[in-house]
Amino acid sequence: MRITVLGSSAGGGFPQWNCNCRNCAGLRHGSVRAVARTQSSIFVRPDDGDDGVDGILFNASPDILEQIRSDPVLQPGRARRDTAIAGVVLIDGQIDHSTGLLMLRERASPLPLWCTDPVAEDLNQGHPILRVLSHFCGVERRRIAADGSPFEIPGVPGVSLRAYALSSKAAPYSPHREAPVPGDNIGVLMTDTASGRSAFYAPGLGEITPPLFDTMCGADAVLVDGTFWTDDEMRALGLSKKTAREIGHLPQSGPGGMLEWLDRLPARTRRLLIHVNNTNPILDEDSPERALLHSHGIEVCADKMTIVP
Ligand code: MLT
Ligand code: MN
Ligand code: ZN
Repeated sequence: MRITVLGSSAGGGFPQWNCNCRNCAGLRHGSVRAVARTQSSIFVRPDDGDDGVDGILFNASPDILEQIRSDPVLQPGRARRDTAIAGVVLIDGQIDHSTGLLMLRERASPLPLWCTDPVAEDLNQGHPILRVLSHFCGVERRRIAADGSPFEIPGVPGVSLRAYALSSKAAPYSPHREAPVPGDNIGVLMTDTASGRSAFYAPGLGEITPPLFDTMCGADAVLVDGTFWTDDEMRALGLSKKTAREIGHLPQSGPGGMLEWLDRLPARTRRLLIHVNNTNPILDEDSPERALLHSHGIEVCADKMTIVP
């Protein structure tokens, strides 16, 4: 199983179009050593040495067309109209994870789409892109039960998935944004059934509970919420009134933060942060925060990175 990071940034991307925070302005002007990042998505396919195999798209980002263009693996060119995307799995209904579905509307057949009931509801009501898509290719929606039961995506043999309900937040447009329900956000454990190797993916993770931590401990790699360094990152910059936790993202630093949890994983676990917001100081490769991550054995995902757990 091979994981390709298509987009490692949170909503807005890096640099964000209207942002002149230290990171965004510094990247534009060359005064901060960092690399640009597109919005949150990964592609997972069996690792059998053949480039022409289909895989699973996790999240359809607004940057999906650029992401497809920059990775030939996503366009194997086997027919006049072709794609390596056998199906899409959504981990939530946020704009940065779902809007790219509209860009796949030229498909010749309905798009196989796996998501939970609350996410399907949001994408039919608050942000009705599934209704819009029904006038184009349409979707063949498959229900994800966020209870840890195994499922597979047809056309992608050898990759077994298990979804877990997470404590995070539904999208701002959701009719139940302030009344979260299980399944608004999921984390996915993906296992290569031949090798038994696995990765846990959760780009939006507000709270780590003991059972969830057990699941993380069983994975060979974790790709988890790297949105914010501090809980009041956006407030301190005057960019939002809300804390990281209030919008469903566990910050990396501070008591009970992501660093403390990652420190407790088994030594063999590969630790990666993904869905990094443009304000996060870890994007600056020369920052003390990035050095601290390095000393804890934690990596920061970048676009085009591949991970074979
Ligand atoms: C989030 O996960 O909170 C988002 O990145 C917000 C967004 O897409 O605007
Ligand atoms: Mn997001
Ligand atoms: Zn910025």
